[in-house]
Amino acid sequence: MTPLVASEIKQMEKACQLAGQLLKYLGSLVRPGVTTEELDKIAYDWILSHEAKPAPLGYHGFPKSICTSVNEVICHGVPGSQRLEVGDIVNIDVTCIKDGFYGDTSSTYFVGEVSDQAKKITQCAEECMYQGIDEVKPFATTGDIGYAVNQLARKRGYFTVRDIGGHGIGKVFHDEPFVPSYGKKGRGIRLKPWCCITVEPMINQTSAPIREFAIPHSTIKYYQTGDKSLSAQFEHTVLITDKGHEILTLID
Ligand code: MF3
Ligand code: CO
Ligand code: CO
Repeated sequence: MTPLVASEIKQMEKACQLAGQLLKYLGSLVRPGVTTEELDKIAYDWILSHEAKPAPLGYHGFPKSICTSVNEVICHGVPGSQRLEVGDIVNIDVTCIKDGFYGDTSSTYFVGEVSDQAKKITQCAEECMYQGIDEVKPFATTGDIGYAVNQLARKRGYFTVRDIGGHGIGKVFHDEPFVPSYGKKGRGIRLKPWCCITVEPMINQTSAPIREFAIPHSTIKYYQTGDKSLSAQFEHTVLITDKGHEILTLID
């Protein structure tokens, strides 16, 4: 968690706006019949044409430019030949490197008409992310964020993933601190002005232990719910300011 100077904040804004714009574009392409590797190829070409690099590609051996996590996949889903089908929910996670700075954002999209339970968990995941972001201010703690996220999820009858979460970000992809989706007010790491973190809660329908799976030739793992129930996630990159925060990956 290294504070950024004004010029570096401008560069983070650029990287984050690029990631946000691409995510919005990819979201508009989600429809029944599209494969996740088609979305990945479009993302790769778009990022290169904007003189940036896809952070996931080659990161600890990760084979693709974005992560696509469908239904019971919690995160780090690898794009492939799977066709999206009516009723699926898919999280698309985009991270761009622009001039050495990282912008990281994800949203969960509906494929055609989805069930009420899919709508409910997806809406809850987005609201949980914003509840967490509301806590981001100088000298608040990572525990404040996690507490707020978990409280809302539990109120709605859902469960947050504990082992995976947000992170510091800037000139590196994954920095300290870990930003949990559970916790106690006032505990954890204190947030410092002019540093960036991600808030990226993963929300599950049940408390079934999560399962991890190897990705060939990579030390990154992907995760699924233990009972194949749904999981949804949203992510923004957030700058801690002197008074509060700015959501750098927000578009419009
Ligand atoms: N973008 C993910 C995050 O939010 C990390 C993906 S790492 C990868 O932290 F290797 F799986 F791409
Ligand atoms: Co992230
Ligand atoms: Co991400």
